Amino acid sequence: MDRIVVLTGAGLSAESGLGTFRDAEGLWAQHRIEDVATPEGFARNPALVHEFYNARRAQAAAAQPNAAHRALARLAGHAPVTLITQNVDGLHEKAGAEAIHMHGALSRALCAACGHGWEAPATMAPDDPCPACAARATRPDVVWFGEMPYHMDLIADRLAECTVFAAIGTSGQVYPAAGFVQEAAARGAHTVELNLESTDVSGAFDAHHTGPASRIVPQWVDRLLAG
Ligand code: APR
Repeated sequence: MDRIVVLTGAGLSAESGLGTFRDAEGLWAQHRIEDVATPEGFARNPALVHEFYNARRAQAAAAQPNAAHRALARLAGHAPVTLITQNVDGLHEKAGAEAIHMHGALSRALCAACGHGWEAPATMAPDDPCPACAARATRPDVVWFGEMPYHMDLIADRLAECTVFAAIGTSGQVYPAAGFVQEAAARGAHTVELNLESTDVSGAFDAHHTGPASRIVPQWVDRLLAG
C-alpha cells in the first residue's frame, strides 16, 4: 500500500473564506511581512503583531473546513497518510484529521522567555503573563520568517519513506516546505501538485491537478482510495 505524505498550504483553506498570502489581495499585499511575521517586527511593535494574529485567530475560529479538508480526513482514515500543514488555522483538525503543524497554530500561545506553550485565549496582548514563569513575553505560537519550522526531523523521516507526495494549495515560495518535493522525488516517490494554477515549483512534480481544492482534492482522494 502507498505511504502518502500530503503538504498543505493556504490555498486549501481559501474556499473556507481564509485569505491566502501571495494572491493579489492576499495577506502580504495588506501587511508588511517584516512588521507582522518576523521576530524583529514583534520586538519593535508587539501590540501590532498581536492585533494581526488576534484578527486571524477570530477568522479561523469562525471558519469551517471545506470539501478538500474533509476529503483529506477521509483519506487519512483509510490509508497510511502523513498530513503536514503550513497552515495555522486548525481546519484539518476541525475536519477530523491530525496534521503536523510545521508553522505552528493560531490556537496556541508561547512564552518567548521560558518556552512554555498553552492554549491561546481569543485575544492576546503584549502584557499577558506566562502561566508558567510569569514573564511578559507571550507571543503567538506561529513560526515567523527567520525561525526554524517545527517537527523537521519527523518530516524528514516521513519524506524519506513515502511513495506518494502531494502538495496542495501552496505556492512553493517558502522553504523548507518548497523543497519537500525534491526530497520525496529523490527517494523515488511519485509527486503530485494540486493547485488552482501552476507555481514556481510545478516543474518538480510528476503530475498536476489544476482547479479549486474543493473539487480536485476529493477527486484525487477518490482515485487513490479506488486503488
Ligand atoms: N484551491 C487550490 N489552490 C489555491 C486556491 C484554491 N481554491 N486558492 C489559492 N490557491 C493556491 C494559489 O495558486 C497559491 O499557489 O494556493 C497557493 C497559496 O500560496 P501562498 O499564499 O503563498 O500560501 P502558502 O504557500 O501556504 O504560504 C507558505 O508563507 O507567509 C508564509 O507562513 C506563511 O505558511 C505560509 C507560507
